[in-house]
Amino acid sequence: MATASAAQANMPSVGVDAPSRREFLYYIWGASIALLLGEAAAGLVWFALPRFKEGEFGGVFNIAGDTVPAPNKIPMSVPAGRFWLSNVEDRGLYVLYGVCTHLGCLPKWVETNNRFECPCHGSKFERTGKYIEGPAPRSMDKFEATVTFDDGTVATTGVEGIPDGGPIPLEGRTIASVAINTGSRYKSADRLDE
Ligand code: FES
Repeated sequence: MATASAAQANMPSVGVDAPSRREFLYYIWGASIALLLGEAAAGLVWFALPRFKEGEFGGVFNIAGDTVPAPNKIPMSVPAGRFWLSNVEDRGLYVLYGVCTHLGCLPKWVETNNRFECPCHGSKFERTGKYIEGPAPRSMDKFEATVTFDDGTVATTGVEGIPDGGPIPLEGRTIASVAINTGSRYKSADRLDE
């Protein structure tokens, strides 16, 4: 009677060769390329996604047209977006960055004086954001904005003859909505900017 070890010795052997050095290097190389491509794809997705959510500072704020102040009425503050909407008669709509250009305090609208006044060191600014007096080195900065009107027309700062930072001419049209991009700020050049 044949023993078990003798039977095993008669079975055909199925050998699994260890990868050669060259094959091993191919595997490593392939894995490295796959990792690199994965990282590149993840990076692309990260860049493609919006960095800020709508309604979050750094992102876009959508304001309903019927809440925009009438010409020369009290400017509207949107604290979450750190901006003011200021509608100026015969000029149009300004979106003013609500942080003082001196040392970063928050100017307030003072209706009795018809101007913005900074509580920290007394800088003053017109309704258009233009510098009046005080230590601020320049006028108030502005945000990029797009106004959509009831008639379907659209006006955006920085294009079609509308200067960076506005104002956006309203010309009696009814505003449907205003989109303010708090991720795009126009820095005033000096105290003469408005
Ligand atoms: S921070 Fe506004 S005047 Fe100094």
